[in-house]
Amino acid sequence: MFPVQRPRRLRQTETLRTLVRESRISTDQLIYPIFVRPGQGVKEPISSMPGIFQWSVDTLTDHLTEVFSLGVHSFLFFGIPSHKDSQGSEAYSPDGIVQVALEAVKERLPKAVLIADLCLCEYTDHGHCGILRDNDVDNDMTIELLARTAVVQARAGATVVAPSDMMDGRVKHIRQALDQSGLTQVPIMSYAAKYASGFYGPFRDAAENAPTFGDRRAYQMDPANRYEAIKEVLLDLEEGADMLIVKPAMPYLDILAEVKKSVNVPVAAYQVSGEYSMIKAAAQRGWVEEERVVEESLIGIRRAGADMIITYFAPEYARWHSGK
Ligand code: PBG
Repeated sequence: MFPVQRPRRLRQTETLRTLVRESRISTDQLIYPIFVRPGQGVKEPISSMPGIFQWSVDTLTDHLTEVFSLGVHSFLFFGIPSHKDSQGSEAYSPDGIVQVALEAVKERLPKAVLIADLCLCEYTDHGHCGILRDNDVDNDMTIELLARTAVVQARAGATVVAPSDMMDGRVKHIRQALDQSGLTQVPIMSYAAKYASGFYGPFRDAAENAPTFGDRRAYQMDPANRYEAIKEVLLDLEEGADMLIVKPAMPYLDILAEVKKSVNVPVAAYQVSGEYSMIKAAAQRGWVEEERVVEESLIGIRRAGADMIITYFAPEYARWHSGK
């Protein structure tokens, strides 16, 4: 009888569909980004990212304790400092906001994986990801400060450091600095293929890091480039990266698939602020079903090759799946 092959046979019931499902997501693979600022009792909504807040160390610690209990065990730290300057000095000050938060969260949740985003843009008064010379980010001066920041973050309790600046040679420099400080066990998760993307828009409200002039196209990647992503990831691996990040996620699934095929280290994809806010905004208007499109966006990222997903939806996803 025609046809012999009937793919619909395996789609008949949810149990059967679950049995033959090719990709799955576990909350263990999700990384939840958080924003911490000075103060006490702070839970400041970010208007362009409904459901996401800036926290102070005390409220953050409580919030992450709850998220941890839902099964999300890894967190990515961003800081909003009390003071910004041309050198981004609060990034590498031992009492900088992220360092204080890392210490507190580590004490409360010793088993959590605490990933410190490593960049100067939240800490510089001009909002660029490094130190300026003649209105341009000076690569080699910047990586000195990044290396210093990595050591301070690791000493404060970061399990992993994650450079997101896109300077050349920074992974090598950071590895050397960590090793020289006896921090040989601290892995580097490098934002290796990070594109100059409009999808970071809402993050600029959340982290208060918009550049005061120009943009980041002279250091982040051109969205049109695919082969260059492989060049970037291979360079970072050669320099000592332990894990890689592709960012953003949804408009770059081809890059993710290609990167995953080209390397033998764990690969993360970052579902960035704009991806989050677009889904939230459409769901608020009733134009899409939130839970369904979040699931679909995350499974698409997994299917394309991500071992880990950095997503602002992590706590919600975990709540939907834990029945809490
Ligand atoms: C900082 C940094 C940015 C993001 C993560 N780290 C902003 C940028 O590069 O402009 C964006 C994350 C998001 O949009 O969710 N270097």
